[in-house]
Amino acid sequence: MLDQLNALEQEGLAQLAAVADSESLEAWRVKHLGRNAQLAELMTGLGALPAAEKPLAGKRANEVKRALEAAFAEKAEGLRQAELAQAAERDAVDVTLPGRPAPAGRLHPNTVVLRRLYAVFADMGFQIYRSGDVETDLMNFELLNFPKDHPARDMQDSFYTNEPNVVLRTHTSPGQIHAMRASAPNPVRAILPGWCYRYEQITARSEVQFLQIEGIVVGPGIRMSDLKGTLTDMARRLLGPDVRTRFRADYFPFTEPSAEMDVECFVCGGKGCSVCKQSGWLEILGCGMVHPTVLRNGGYDPDQVSGFAFGMGPQRILMLSHRITDIRQFLQNDLRFLEQF
Ligand code: PHE
Repeated sequence: MLDQLNALEQEGLAQLAAVADSESLEAWRVKHLGRNAQLAELMTGLGALPAAEKPLAGKRANEVKRALEAAFAEKAEGLRQAELAQAAERDAVDVTLPGRPAPAGRLHPNTVVLRRLYAVFADMGFQIYRSGDVETDLMNFELLNFPKDHPARDMQDSFYTNEPNVVLRTHTSPGQIHAMRASAPNPVRAILPGWCYRYEQITARSEVQFLQIEGIVVGPGIRMSDLKGTLTDMARRLLGPDVRTRFRADYFPFTEPSAEMDVECFVCGGKGCSVCKQSGWLEILGCGMVHPTVLRNGGYDPDQVSGFAFGMGPQRILMLSHRITDIRQFLQNDLRFLEQF
């Protein structure tokens, strides 16, 4: 019995010395200290020994068990330290290496062009107003002097809601009325940016949802020359100090006279190219002197004040300047498109 115990101790310690990782350590533990280990079996057999041998064998068995347990604990701690040291080495951070830059987000081109225009208009003394995307028929059409049978009121062009006479605004021009009513009888000089909605077939050239910026200026003695001067100055601030502009007669129910402003093609510099269709000019906004009826609807006396208004499509300016050929890109959020800005 004593020989067997000595042999078990030697064998156990020898095998433990060869253990190099926690997996084989666990296997060792099961084999030498587990419930079915030879040592455990011997200890169960102690009871069957003759009384004279019992005390000595029992003592020795406990010694062997404690020796193996102590060696095991020491080995486990050694392995744990070694594994920690290894992990520390493996995961070491070289603080002298340059960092990996985190991918940075960027502003959406819609935001970029709007902010650019806000800055230009703010420098020129314009306030920025907001008005809602949902308007009544009264605001969107009636007060802007649209005749009852105007085609823009057609169900085909406007998104009507379940509420009678409530539409998604088809342009930012109802903002003119809001801005005038908030200011009358005092002068007003404001822009109103926002989304507009038209019930149209979606193509590369037309979206059902697009941005507009409305402008409204009302005060005593405002004339057509103020409109031309202000908008030409705006174009120069936006596109460069030498850019030329021209005004062509047009028609809007809420302005009289009405015009469209063209800027010299900023792609070819006016020589003629595919972007300006060889004309040298790009149309960028609609404008005009606020119709007396609209001034009255805004709360002003047309005998005391006059004003001008304009409406532009910021996305159109971006499309022209960046040669974007598909307006749908502005709402698709395709990163391949967005990352180019
Ligand atoms: N609301 C017009 C449009 O959507 C643009 C415009 C605004 C024209 C203000 C004149 C004055 O086309």
